[in-house]
Amino acid sequence: MGLLKGKNILVTGVLTDASIAFHIARLAQEEGATVILTSFGRVLRLTERIAGRLPQPAPVIELDVTNEDDLAALEQRVREHVPNLHGVVHSIGFAPEAALGGNFLNTSWPDVATALQVSAFSLKSLTMATRPLFENGASVVGLDFDASVAWPKYDWMGVAKAALESTSRYLARDLGPENIRVNLVAAGPIKTMAAKSIPGFEEFEHVWNERSALTWDVSDPVPAAQATIVLLSDWLPKTTGEILHVDGGVHAMGG
Ligand SMILES: NC(=O)c1ccc[n+]([C@@H]2O[C@H](COP(=O)([O-])OP(=O)(O)OC[C@H]3O[C@@H](n4cnc5c(N)ncnc54)[C@H](O)[C@@H]3O)[C@@H](O)[C@H]2O)c1
Repeated sequence: MGLLKGKNILVTGVLTDASIAFHIARLAQEEGATVILTSFGRVLRLTERIAGRLPQPAPVIELDVTNEDDLAALEQRVREHVPNLHGVVHSIGFAPEAALGGNFLNTSWPDVATALQVSAFSLKSLTMATRPLFENGASVVGLDFDASVAWPKYDWMGVAKAALESTSRYLARDLGPENIRVNLVAAGPIKTMAAKSIPGFEEFEHVWNERSALTWDVSDPVPAAQATIVLLSDWLPKTTGEILHVDGGVHAMGG
C-alpha cells in the first residue's frame, strides 16, 4: 500500500520475533518506510540477528534509554543512516522482579524508580533525543497497557504505565506547536519476552477470554503493530495525546 512511503522511522524494542516492535518494523518496511532499529548491551547482537528476518536490512544502533551518553549520541548515530526522522516508536518496558507479581505493598523505591525510569520517563528522554531530527513535525508512538484500572499481578508496571500515559499527554501539549504528535497504542496481552517476565500472565489471558468483545489471540502482535503504523502515517494528522485501544474492546466492557 505505501502508508509510510518516504518516511524514516526509528523503532526501539526489537528483542525477538515475537516483540511487538518487530512487527511494527516489518509492517513499516512493507508500507515503504526506511527503518532504523535500536537495542542495547548484551541483547544488541540478538536484535541484529532478528533484524535479519525483516523484509529489508535495517541498521541497529545502540540505545539504552536510561544512559545519558547514548541519548546524547542518538542524533548522530541516526544521521549516519538517514538525514531526518518522521516517526519514532517507543516499545520499551521493564520492571525489576520485585515490582511485579503480587508484591505491590512491599516493593522498595529503587525498584519502583527503575520501572518508572525505563518504562515511562524514557518516552520523554527518547522524544527529546530525537527532536533535532524532526523537520516538519513527527509522530511519536508508545506501547501501553491500559492503566485506568488495577490489574492482577501488574503492580508497579501498572503505575509505570499510568505515568507513561500522562507523560504522553504532556509531551503532546508541549510539542504540538512543532507539529509533533504523541500517541499510545494500548494493546491487550501478547506473549512476548516482556510478558513472560510477568508472573501470572495467564490471569490476563483469563480476563481477555472472559471480557473481550472481539476474539483475542495472545500470540498475535500484528493488530497492535497495525495500529502503530496508522498513527505513524499521515492518516491521523490531528490526533495527539490519544490512547488508541487495540484490546478487542475490553476497556469498553463492564463486568
Ligand atoms: N506483551 C504485552 O502483553 C504488552 C501489552 C501491552 C503493551 N506492551 C508494551 O509493549 C512494549 C514492548 O514490549 P513487548 O511485549 O514487545 O516485549 P519485548 O520484551 O519484546 O520488548 C521490550 C523491549 O524493551 C527493551 N528495553 C528494556 N529496557 C530497555 C532500556 N533500558 N533501553 C532500551 N530498551 C530497553 C528490551 O530490550 C525489549 O526490546 C512494552 O512497553 C510493553 O509494556 C506489551
